[in-house]
Amino acid sequence: MKNAHEQISYTELHRNQFHFSPPKAWMNDPNGMVYFDGEYHLFYQYYPDSNVWGPMHWGHAISADLIHWEHLPIALYPDSLGYIFSGSAVIDKDNTAGFGENAMIAIFTHHDPIGEKSGKSDAFQYQSIAYSLDRGRTFTKYDGNPVIANPGIKDFRDPKVIWDDDSDQWVMIFAAYDHVKLYGSANLIEWKHLSDWGKEYGAHGGVWECPDLFPLKVKGTAEKKWVLLQSLNPGGPQGGSGTQYFIGDFDGHEFTLDPEFESMVQNGKVIWLDQGADNYAGVTWSNAPALHERLFIGWMSNWQYAQIAPTENWRSAMTLPRKLTLNKTGKMYKLQTEIIKSFDEICKNFVVEDKLSISTDRSIDISQSNGAMRLRCSVSDIKNHSLNFLFSNMLGENLKVGYDQKKESWYIDRRQSGLTDFEDKFPAIHHSDPIICTENTAVDIILDAASVEVLINQGQVVMTDILFPTEPYSLLKINTDGLSKLDDFSISSVHSIWKERKY
Ligand code: FRU
Repeated sequence: MKNAHEQISYTELHRNQFHFSPPKAWMNDPNGMVYFDGEYHLFYQYYPDSNVWGPMHWGHAISADLIHWEHLPIALYPDSLGYIFSGSAVIDKDNTAGFGENAMIAIFTHHDPIGEKSGKSDAFQYQSIAYSLDRGRTFTKYDGNPVIANPGIKDFRDPKVIWDDDSDQWVMIFAAYDHVKLYGSANLIEWKHLSDWGKEYGAHGGVWECPDLFPLKVKGTAEKKWVLLQSLNPGGPQGGSGTQYFIGDFDGHEFTLDPEFESMVQNGKVIWLDQGADNYAGVTWSNAPALHERLFIGWMSNWQYAQIAPTENWRSAMTLPRKLTLNKTGKMYKLQTEIIKSFDEICKNFVVEDKLSISTDRSIDISQSNGAMRLRCSVSDIKNHSLNFLFSNMLGENLKVGYDQKKESWYIDRRQSGLTDFEDKFPAIHHSDPIICTENTAVDIILDAASVEVLINQGQVVMTDILFPTEPYSLLKINTDGLSKLDDFSISSVHSIWKERKY
């Protein structure tokens, strides 16, 4: 099947040029991400009839490199059991479910809107499955749905399934209001409750949603730990929605926190995956071929204003696909986020300076990027200085990204970034937690038509924000209170993934 939405040009103002967005209409969470037979599948929460949230479908796209996407027809439609809420997909290599060898099986929440409206019971969300025998092109819903009934819990959703070799079973994690539930199964159809986790840990400013649980080897070692991602809304790091994470172990029955990690979160500290405002409901690809990393994508928006963001034909985009790795310093584990390597292939440098002098304010013309660009550099001795990158356009709109030495934190300031008045809380300055900067700090700033992603030191700090400049930023100004140079400085234009364009 060729592009199912050929009429869409992807040239509208604010249409991101190298991030995934739906051809038209409303999108929220990424769903069912699975790798199979050379294709990365990305399903997503989709309401094709409007640019605000409504009866949920699963939209569908595929990619060979996680950068260029081909839209496919809608994969799952609402049915008599309800809307199709978030969930995951696996490849059933050994035909444990009996649908066929290598069946692609989607596991999702059915949300019954009639049950919800009747107010008679809180049991209107339950877990169901559907299978595909043609590489995800068509799905058949299992006729015994739901596979996990609801015992009467109002928020009971977003199943993520993984095969666990050690306990020789499928393991499902999903969110139930203020905690997660773990279930185990031999065949994806009959499930038994294993355990609950989370009531007493982490951020609880809102309902827990879209968890993920997966093992990762600590970088450079054979040690394996388990990572639990947990989104919540509201209660995020910049208000509205956000995603926290936990590191621990899983014994086939229960998730337990690593002791160091536990002592940190017991003191009330929340460890965010991304400290910007706009990375939500992200989870990782299943069946992707790597042990030391996990591929992740998130929804680049925030429930605080997602439905009134100033776009008409479509609403929202995903983050760039990212690689999560687990690192250990002393006894402490930390998840790091990097941009996937294949992104480099659509970047083309137009400024390269081994040592860019910034002893006086520096201005660089970035108009040729047409708003789609990447800036990279390495800074020595930043801990005693501040550093500001100011991207501006001819209308006086600007975005500031930088290091605030007084607060010892990185920041994104979108107060004057363009259209901001659609929601009171949108024009804001977002700070990361304080960070001890190393001798050489690597800075990576990725700007698309309506987003900025900032990664410091291969993702020790990650911040993602959306923004709506009325025209692309064409000038970059760099200033500092005493740094003399930036090393390995480069700026590249980034190709449109939707349409090749001259750059
Ligand atoms: C998260 C979420 C999920 C739910 C879906 C509905 O953004 O609220 O919990 O399954 O969106 O679209």
